[in-house]
Amino acid sequence: MAADIDTEKRRAAERGLEYVEDGMVLGLGTGSTAAHVVRLLGERVGAGLKVRGVPTSRSTHALAEACGVPLATLDEVTRIDLTIDGADEVDPELRVIKGGGGALLREKIVASISEKLVIVVDSSKLVERLGAFDLPVEVTPYARKVACIALEATGCSARLRLGGDGVPFVTDEGNSLVDCAYGAIDHPRALANRLNAIVGVVEHGLFLDMADIVVVGRAGGAEVIERATHPHGT
Ligand code: A5P
Repeated sequence: MAADIDTEKRRAAERGLEYVEDGMVLGLGTGSTAAHVVRLLGERVGAGLKVRGVPTSRSTHALAEACGVPLATLDEVTRIDLTIDGADEVDPELRVIKGGGGALLREKIVASISEKLVIVVDSSKLVERLGAFDLPVEVTPYARKVACIALEATGCSARLRLGGDGVPFVTDEGNSLVDCAYGAIDHPRALANRLNAIVGVVEHGLFLDMADIVVVGRAGGAEVIERATHPHGT
């Protein structure tokens, strides 16, 4: 990763952490930007901050544990004060594509029960229109071939994600991932509805009306973009 991009990710993480308050239950995202968040959070916990984190992946669980962040499961907490997570693309309406790192299902579950979702990104993630990044879709393994056919009927080229060993990638929830190349997604809400209607699709990486704040890291600081209105319950 280019050093300047990693600097932007860290700047975004630092600024995103300013939303953390003592006593909060935090959703801990997945990916390289979220990893900065977890490491910095560990430093703050070491300095006396009292929080509990709900990790969105096994990798984040391991990192948070190593950083000394106290953890909780969704059997122990059912509501999260604040989630800080990364993204693969963010459009001007703060609609987001996630799942490049393979953790979209747990990420979306945690985001859906979060009072506030702060997305932290480097500047390369900002786009005018979603879809240049292939949309990840989590499917049940039994249905992966027919799911690919149904996904292609929505206007994309669908590719089953493979792991480094050439066998289908397996998510933390035991599912397969299909990366869907749309090129451009003109109507994200309509597409989300179509994807939700495909039997065998467990969840997709379109996070619509979920992000409250997007923090964009820059070389010398961070830009904060807030939604005009609070999306939850509207
Ligand atoms: C993980 O499944 C993703 O949703 C990540 O949040 C996303 O891929 C961003 O990752 P980086 O912060 O590594 O760019």
